[in-house]
Amino acid sequence: MIYTKLVNKENLWKEKDLTKINLVEIIDINENKRKIEEKTKEAYDELKNYLKQKNIEIGITEGYRTVEEQINLRNALLKEKGLSYIENFVALPYESEHHTGLAIDIAIKKENEYIDEELELTKEDYKIIHETLPKYGFILRYPKNKEKITGYNYEPWHLRYVGKVPAQIIYNNNLTLEEYLKDYKTVLYINKPKGITSFDVVNEIRHIFGIKKVGHTGTLDPIAEGVMLVAIGKATKIVELLTAEDKEYIAEVELGYKTDTYDNTGTIIEKKEVPKIINLEEKLKSFKKTYLQEVPIYSAVKVNGKKLYDYARKKEEISLPKKQVTIKEIELLEEKEKAFTFKALVTKGCYIRSLIQDIGESLDTYATMTNLIRTKQGKISLKDTNTLEEIKKNKFQTHNIEDILDYPIIKVDEKEYLKISNGVNLKDKWNIKDKVIFIDKEEKLIGIYEKKDDFLKTWKNFI
Ligand code: DAL
Ligand code: ZN
Repeated sequence: MIYTKLVNKENLWKEKDLTKINLVEIIDINENKRKIEEKTKEAYDELKNYLKQKNIEIGITEGYRTVEEQINLRNALLKEKGLSYIENFVALPYESEHHTGLAIDIAIKKENEYIDEELELTKEDYKIIHETLPKYGFILRYPKNKEKITGYNYEPWHLRYVGKVPAQIIYNNNLTLEEYLKDYKTVLYINKPKGITSFDVVNEIRHIFGIKKVGHTGTLDPIAEGVMLVAIGKATKIVELLTAEDKEYIAEVELGYKTDTYDNTGTIIEKKEVPKIINLEEKLKSFKKTYLQEVPIYSAVKVNGKKLYDYARKKEEISLPKKQVTIKEIELLEEKEKAFTFKALVTKGCYIRSLIQDIGESLDTYATMTNLIRTKQGKISLKDTNTLEEIKKNKFQTHNIEDILDYPIIKVDEKEYLKISNGVNLKDKWNIKDKVIFIDKEEKLIGIYEKKDDFLKTWKNFI
C-alpha cells in the first residue's frame, strides 16, 4: 500500500487501485456507517483522542467515496451551491482522492453541534488541529496559497493520510503532496545493519518516504554494516558523485582457508597452512598502492551482459575483469592467532574481500573476510548516521545536496536564473574550477553547473 498515492486533476483514480486498499468501517457525525482505509482509521482515532485532551472534539463527515457517490455529490452541490463552488471545492469523479480511502473530511463539535465546512467559528481549533496532523501521519491536503498547485480552494476540513515521515516533511517544508512527490530531494546517512542487502535498505526507504526514486551510493553486502548514503527523489541526480567518494572500512580476517565468496558466508573451497607471520604491519603497509584488482566472482559486475555471480552459480568459466583501485591508507588494528583486524581507506570500486584475498596470497596462505564495517564515506562517518529504526520513528537528519557537496554555492540574479532555467551556458565570472552550485534568491537549489572550455554548462538541473 502506497500511502502517498497521488490523485488529482492530472492523476486519475483507477478502479483497479481499489484492490490494493483495505477499507474498514467508521461512524460519521450523523451515526451513518462509512468506510476509510484501515491505517487511516487507526491514525484518525489516535488524532481524535489526542485532540479530545485539548478540548477539541472532531467527527468525520466524509471518508471513502465511490465514483457514483462523487457524481451524486457534485450534482447535489451544483444545485445547492452553484457552479463556482463545485469547481473550487468538489472534484470530478476519478479526480477525487476520497476514492483512495486515505482522505477524510472532519467537522468540529461546538456546544453539542458539529460545525461543518465553516471557516470563522472554527479558525482557532483548525490551527491546533493542523499543527497536530504530522504527528499522526496526516497532512492538510488543500492549504492556503497553494490553490494553483492542488487545483482546489483552501479546505481546512480535508485531511489526508500519507504516513508519519512524509507528513512531517510536507509540514516542515510547507509543501503540497504534489510538490513533495515531484521535487523533494534529500540524502540520508544510514547505518546499514548486517543481514540485509543494500537493495533491502533502498526498498525500506521507498516505503517509509512513499517516494519511488531512491538510490544508494555504493553497495554493502549482507555481511557488511555501516555508512550508507541514500539519495531520495531528485537527489538521486548526484548519486554518481557520492558513489565516487573514498570509503573507509574496518575488516576482520581469518587466515588458512578460502571460500567461494571470499567471505565467511560462502563455502570453504581450499585450505592452506598458515606460516609464521613476521611483521604483519609492514606487510599490510605494502598494500598502500594503486593496483589492478580482480573483481570477485560473487559480485554484480556484468561481463558480456551477464552478472558475474550468475556465471559462478552455473559454474561457467569466465575470466574475471580487473579494475584499478588505490589503497590510500591501511593500518593493522589487532593481531590474533590466524586472524587480524585492519582499517583501510580505499577509492571507489575497491572490493575489501578481494584486497583480503591479495593480502592472503602475499602471506603465502589464504585469507577470508569475516566481518566488515564501512566507517566512512567521503567526510561522513558512523557518528553522523541514523539507523532504519530511527528513520521509521521519524527521528533522523536529512541532508541538503548543497551542504554535502564541496562546491562553491552562488546565489544568482534574475537574468542568470532565466538562463539556468532554460539550460543556457553561463560566462564564468566567478572563476570556477570544477563544478558550482547555483541557488535562487530563496536559497533553493536550482542547478549544478560544470566548467567546460571557459564556460559553465549544465551538469544537473533542479528547477
Ligand atoms: N473536496 C475535494 C477536492 C474532493 O471533492 O475530493
Ligand atoms: Zn474532502
